[in-house]
Amino acid sequence: MKNILITGGAGYIGSATVDILLRYGYAITVVDNLFRGFLSGIHEKTHFHSVDLLQKNILEQAFKTNKFDAVIHLAALAYVKESTENPKMYLDNNIQSTQNIIELCKKYEVGKLIFSSSCTIFGNENGDSPVKEESRIKPINPYGESKVICENLIKESGLDYIILRYFNVAGANPEKQLGIKTSFASHLVHALSRAVITDIDVSINGNGSYVRDYIHVDDVAGIHLKALQYIEQQKCREIINCGYGEGYTVLDIVNKFEQVNSVKIRIKKAEFRVGDPQYLVCDNTKLKKIFSWRSSFSKPLEHICKSSLEWEKLR
Ligand SMILES: NC(=O)c1ccc[n+]([C@@H]2O[C@H](COP(=O)([O-])OP(=O)(O)OC[C@H]3O[C@@H](n4cnc5c(N)ncnc54)[C@H](O)[C@@H]3O)[C@@H](O)[C@H]2O)c1
Repeated sequence: MKNILITGGAGYIGSATVDILLRYGYAITVVDNLFRGFLSGIHEKTHFHSVDLLQKNILEQAFKTNKFDAVIHLAALAYVKESTENPKMYLDNNIQSTQNIIELCKKYEVGKLIFSSSCTIFGNENGDSPVKEESRIKPINPYGESKVICENLIKESGLDYIILRYFNVAGANPEKQLGIKTSFASHLVHALSRAVITDIDVSINGNGSYVRDYIHVDDVAGIHLKALQYIEQQKCREIINCGYGEGYTVLDIVNKFEQVNSVKIRIKKAEFRVGDPQYLVCDNTKLKKIFSWRSSFSKPLEHICKSSLEWEKLR
């Protein structure tokens, strides 16, 4: 059985990733400071350490007491708007925690690292074209800047790595009690679901014209399984963009959400938001080729909208 450390495993994507890896027989240790994660998101079969990754000497205990075969480093602060309001907090937390993970991986000879990066690193540099792994990178918010710096630290680390750049992760798995739990979350489909439950208007920035590529959280979790299986088998240094390759405006998503769930959303149009790129759609050619990957859903966007509202009704 392979022994895997997952940072941020109490968070939204982390808890879904833990769930799938446990089903595939991996032994999982989670470290998370529970700043945005939840104990209820931590599967009972995992070993959990409530640790802040910035506290390297405490984090080191997890490495001393386990021989990990690989690390999946998801822990980060991950909200664009918050990062524009408090850039230092984002740069300090995300960069130093990645640096600490790299140093401990090297010290304890854990040679394989999978890292969660983000499509936000591309900024507005690529116009209305789907972005490839080698497309121009120019983040326009501190969150994106922190991810670019972390990617560079990992590339220079000498470790084997797979950097996964997720596009907009959305949806839930209500049967497994997996979904967004933090009240801080501002993701669009989550906000639409909360608006239905709480009967409030939804503010739509930039006249609803931002285009994004939404990918279901279970598909993202499944990509981690593929990445682990891949990195276990060979030495590799790969960067992979993770999305469906389909762009939707905010208003497209509102319409789809209303149609799929037979609800009506009241929207308020708001200003363009500092730090939000206009168009981010994934060129997923490499994802499909390298992992023989395809979505596990026949209609992913419908599933995202349905599962997100079902999850909010359950909570
Ligand atoms: N959600 C998305 O759409 C999306 C898109 C692209 C990339 N990502 C990346 O995916 C990863 C997971 O995102 P998420 O949506 O699950 O967010 P999340 O906030 O739900 O999970 C992040 C987890 O990291 C933990 N954490 C943060 N800083 C920590 C620290 N210093 N020490 C210990 N734990 C710490 C939090 O408590 C939380 O449980 C992040 O790296 C994020 O940047 C997310």
